[in-house]
Amino acid sequence: MPEPVLSVRDLRAGYGTREILKKVSVDVAPGEIRVVLGGSGSGKSTFLRNVLGLETPWSGEVRVLGENLAAGGHAADRARNHLGVLFQQGALVTSLTVGQNVMLPLVLDGIRPDGAAEEIARARLSRVRLSHAWGLYPGELSGGMRKRAALARALVREPRILFCDEPSAGLDPLTSKELDELLLELRDTLGLSIVLVTHELDSIRALAEKVLYLHLGEVLFDGPFQDALDHGPARIRDFFARRLDPADAILSSSWEILT
Ligand SMILES: Nc1ncnc2c1ncn2[C@@H]1O[C@H](COP(=O)(O)OP(=O)(O)O)[C@@H](O)[C@H]1O
Ligand SMILES: [Mg+2]
Repeated sequence: MPEPVLSVRDLRAGYGTREILKKVSVDVAPGEIRVVLGGSGSGKSTFLRNVLGLETPWSGEVRVLGENLAAGGHAADRARNHLGVLFQQGALVTSLTVGQNVMLPLVLDGIRPDGAAEEIARARLSRVRLSHAWGLYPGELSGGMRKRAALARALVREPRILFCDEPSAGLDPLTSKELDELLLELRDTLGLSIVLVTHELDSIRALAEKVLYLHLGEVLFDGPFQDALDHGPARIRDFFARRLDPADAILSSSWEILT
């Protein structure tokens, strides 16, 4: 296996004194799409936030391109710049145009919002087929367009790894399929690794090469999607079976809303 772009070892994390992640380890290879699965409340978002450094892990190690993010200093900062995030709600600044939103990370890095920044931002918008939306405001975009604008912004610093937490939440099936196709295309053309939390079976089918299944803060399965389907633990096969049965899927999604 090539050197992993992301390597997580024995990650423990939680809120206050409540432990959520017990001992999570995973490696992600260059260009790999890794889907993080698990029931509602199993710690998927907590995992993402701790890997990204939005929360501070209790213990364990997160290495990006071999650099330990907790080590601090220049090398860790550079490594952290290789992480891009597509936030669940898109999180665009509503008072800025799409172009200004996409340039924002560069401007925060101290690059003036003209010349180079604009060129990079326009190139990213064109990758997500949104060139025409440069001067529009987020309120003028459809849900799918907002996701793509947020995606362009997540890619503007040229990260090596893109993290997405339930990116198709709130999208209709067709728009969600287009987003999946776009993610695949970005992986292929930019060589991105993608770490994606989703529970949409269509997305899992379209994207998952390897899965990481979390249960009660521990890794229940780490391996190829097909292996999980064929001979994963019963809980995982149940998870897929429920999602393959439409009546059950309706019940289980109402359950997730209620819990
Ligand atoms: N900011 C927070 N403060 C306290 N508890 C939290 C916070 N975020 C999540 N939790 C708790 O941590 C557990 C895991 O949540 P989360 O990582 O969001 O799960 P998932 O994304 O798999 O649904 C849940 O019990 C949730 O209530
Ligand atoms: Mg979540």
